[in-house]
Amino acid sequence: MKPIRIGIVGAGSIGLRGALQHLSVGDYADRVVAGAICDVTPGRAQAAAQKFGVPQAFEDYEQMLREGDIDAVTICTPIGLHFDQGMQAIEAGKHVHFNKTMTVTLAEADALIARAQEKEVRLVASPGEVLRPHNTHIRRLIEDGELGQLIWAATGAGFGTYHEGEGVRQGDDVLQNIDPSWYWNSRGGGPLYDMTVYGLHALTSVLGPARRVTALSGIAIKERTFKGKTSQTGCDDNTLMLLEFQEALYAFVYGAAAGSITPFGAPVFFGTKGSINGDMLNGQPIVVPGFEQMQSGRSNSMLPHVTGQHAVIGEEAHVWEDIMQLVDWVRDGVPSPVTAEHARHVIDIIESAYRAAQTGQVQELQSTFTLSTSQ
Ligand SMILES: NC(=O)c1ccc[n+]([C@@H]2O[C@H](COP(=O)([O-])OP(=O)(O)OC[C@H]3O[C@@H](n4cnc5c(N)ncnc54)[C@H](O)[C@@H]3O)[C@@H](O)[C@H]2O)c1
Repeated sequence: MKPIRIGIVGAGSIGLRGALQHLSVGDYADRVVAGAICDVTPGRAQAAAQKFGVPQAFEDYEQMLREGDIDAVTICTPIGLHFDQGMQAIEAGKHVHFNKTMTVTLAEADALIARAQEKEVRLVASPGEVLRPHNTHIRRLIEDGELGQLIWAATGAGFGTYHEGEGVRQGDDVLQNIDPSWYWNSRGGGPLYDMTVYGLHALTSVLGPARRVTALSGIAIKERTFKGKTSQTGCDDNTLMLLEFQEALYAFVYGAAAGSITPFGAPVFFGTKGSINGDMLNGQPIVVPGFEQMQSGRSNSMLPHVTGQHAVIGEEAHVWEDIMQLVDWVRDGVPSPVTAEHARHVIDIIESAYRAAQTGQVQELQSTFTLSTSQ
């Protein structure tokens, strides 16, 4: 079988650092290669193609779908575009890797999943927190009663000025002058879809699906500035929510304009006999069998395809891992545990939290998903 040819949609921060940087290592070239790249910013796709040796470059996505020599796409554009671009790829018969978050709404996620089934194409939706051995191990520790009765959990993240400050955006040429303002001024912006999504995937990788949500939400920082250009904040940037998993088992989840009380992407769990805080159990490092030398729960080196040079690169290697989940699924026919159904449930939580904040009513979640038993 020939290598899967991937089309990269968007040559911004993650298209460059997560997709191209890792694809161009070439160690999996018998399984996957970068086939084409597209970006609407004039000259960016061409510059990225030249830098990373990608055979085809386009400024128009639909043209890439029509004329690109590709089997699959990795969608590396602003979140509000993911649904339309994903659906167009499915219609063109391409397999799709979605960077987080797959869609903005549950209805969009439902539509993608249904159409992908009809067209017999595969969907993998980041972030694949379910692959992290710590999450599986923590699930087992809780099931085995190490924390006694589980009482509550917490996770979340603070926006701060992470995107304004990303190193990849600081230069002046077309590959570095990448405007991040969509993160705060467009549909699908805000810290829940961008950052809290990691903690929500980790939390639900341990506890499974949630049942109900309520929240308070608003815009705390009214405008942000990138390279001297100020734009209004157009989506909530400060949301605190409460989730119910079972009777009287709750989680506090936040996507704040600034500030954080939990390790990034690594929930805190409290039980009657103890607690887990990130990768610590009752103050001691959690040692996952087979990973004795690597203690950090979010170490990318613990992911199955983050080997050799990918581990050395380190940054955004989880995006490379999720791309490889799609590649393996397409090539080997073995479904990845990084499912669109899991992403759909997290999207349901986020959308329902916003609705709860708007209406003042607790929201019942409509979706569910099944954790892969092998994880
Ligand atoms: N930046 C990060 O640290 C990071 C990390 C992990 C995942 N992600 C995810 O990756 C995705 C992209 O984020 P980013 O930070 O790379 O954004 P970015 O703003 O850096 O890059 C987006 C790119 O998409 C291009 N684009 C916009 N509209 C387009 C269209 N219609 N067709 C083709 N190209 C188009 C833009 O020109 C830009 O180059 C998001 O889903 C984000 O949540 C980002």
